[in-house]
Amino acid sequence: MADLKHEIERRRTFAIISHPDAGKTTLTEKFLLYGGAISLAGAVKGKKNARHAVSDWMEIEKQRGISVTSSVMQFNYEGYCINILDTPGHQDFSEDTYRTLMAADSAVMVIDAAKGVENQTRKLFKVCVMRNIPIFTFINKMDRESRNPFDLLEEIEKELGIKTYPVNWPIGSGKEFKGVYDREKRHIISFEANNGTKEVAATEVDLSDESLADIIGRRNYETLTEDVELLDGASEEFNMELVNSGKLSPVFFGSALTNFGVEPFLENFLKMTTPPLPRNTPDGVVDPFDPEFSAFIFKIQANMNKAHRDRIAFMRICSGKFDKDMEVLHVQNGRTMRLSQPQQLMASEREVISEAYAGDIMGVFDPGVFSIGDTICSPKKKVKFEGIPTFAPEHFARIRQKDTLKRKQFIKGTTQIAQEGAIQIFSEPQSGFEEVIVGVVGVLQFEVLEYRLKNEYNVDIIREGLPYEHIRWITSEKHLEGGLDELNKLILTSDTKLIQDVKGNYLLIFTSEWNIKWALDKNPGLELAEFNRD
Ligand code: G4P
Repeated sequence: MADLKHEIERRRTFAIISHPDAGKTTLTEKFLLYGGAISLAGAVKGKKNARHAVSDWMEIEKQRGISVTSSVMQFNYEGYCINILDTPGHQDFSEDTYRTLMAADSAVMVIDAAKGVENQTRKLFKVCVMRNIPIFTFINKMDRESRNPFDLLEEIEKELGIKTYPVNWPIGSGKEFKGVYDREKRHIISFEANNGTKEVAATEVDLSDESLADIIGRRNYETLTEDVELLDGASEEFNMELVNSGKLSPVFFGSALTNFGVEPFLENFLKMTTPPLPRNTPDGVVDPFDPEFSAFIFKIQANMNKAHRDRIAFMRICSGKFDKDMEVLHVQNGRTMRLSQPQQLMASEREVISEAYAGDIMGVFDPGVFSIGDTICSPKKKVKFEGIPTFAPEHFARIRQKDTLKRKQFIKGTTQIAQEGAIQIFSEPQSGFEEVIVGVVGVLQFEVLEYRLKNEYNVDIIREGLPYEHIRWITSEKHLEGGLDELNKLILTSDTKLIQDVKGNYLLIFTSEWNIKWALDKNPGLELAEFNRD
């Protein structure tokens, strides 16, 4: 038991978010270097490439220079066991990002010091706020000409509506970037350039040390003493409670590429973040230290390796310990089972594991039974986690297979891709799935769908864009009980359409907000919901 407590206490599970190119991959790689999980810079980038090689549909990702999938890595550092969740950077995949954040206990937001808050930072930040998780900021690329640090903090506070607390402060920028000042210890850590290895030469000098001006240069010294005075007088008080509720972001400065300030960040961050947090269920809170195993599925990815046609379900362990031979209950379908090929990603490879603890992310082979949001737990103690909400799609298209003989593959492909949560599929009532209506959050997903159907299922499709932009699930008892007869009586504009999702729920799709209001006005008692939490 002592072992279980110790193992869970040392876990830290966080997501990294950033606008593309801010340096998320480089920073992750440096973390792995410190953890000894890789020995050479470049290994993670190498992994990005290796992934492309094994997974053809990620060609799209490569061609566009974006990351459409998210991955998970685990490594050890100074007694901590760290799980990093990488988030996709493209705006179209905010839904996937949301799911990934469901599995994290905190987030690290990487910001480019020359660019400040960028478009995608804003979007990802909004998703973090929905989860109320602590957000730590790493202002990167200080080795390049950067904006004034005070301006950067002001921009974060104004644009994102979160308070900031600089834990350390940069000394100079660009070629003049000498190191960081640690506000708590009141000393500076100055760095010397290195060639990307772990051993960055760092000297620690007290702020009051007379030799400081010689080490960092007179001008930097003067700016620093002025800045420190300003910071001590004006900056927000550090308050861990505000950090934990996502209202105050501890800020660190550094350069991932040259390794300046990365280790001080990692050390402080790990001290400030919490071990796995309790999770809510409709029947109460699940304590991570409860010895009975529980987990929920937040991501499903098919065909990661085309040669094996495998489908992996990723789950976040919420309590207890997982043993590879244990029997678990899949709550949604009520069956007990053994999880097959449990695995974790260790830096560059998938590794089969025999045990895992609360806080860990584990992938298992999915024979097609799991859905996003499902709970897996010990049969001795049944729990059911709150589902992951389905985002309302904003773009719709009708699709069908070009070659009618490929019907089976077409249905299989669209259904499987929908189960992964990349798209949502709908049909017209009573039409079966003769033609499929696809709804997506971002238009790029249409391209991914088309590409994957062709490459993984050998089906060419015809896609016809539809003008709908809003979707609402019908929730009023009266209408649901009356079934299709009752629903056909609804008074709707001619450009409003009644459809069904894969579970048979009825929905309406609209071309404008105005039409939603019209439907509600004309049909007393009609109730509509924007999200479906089934
Ligand atoms: P991302 O995952 O957030 O998209 O960013 P990534 O780490 O891939 O970094 C984007 C680019 O920024 C890379 O350059 C990387 O080397 C550079 N970079 C990251 N951190 C720093 C830093 O602290 N300082 C400086 N000066 N550059 C940094 P690239 O030329 O696009 O790629 P590559 O040729 O280095 O692979």
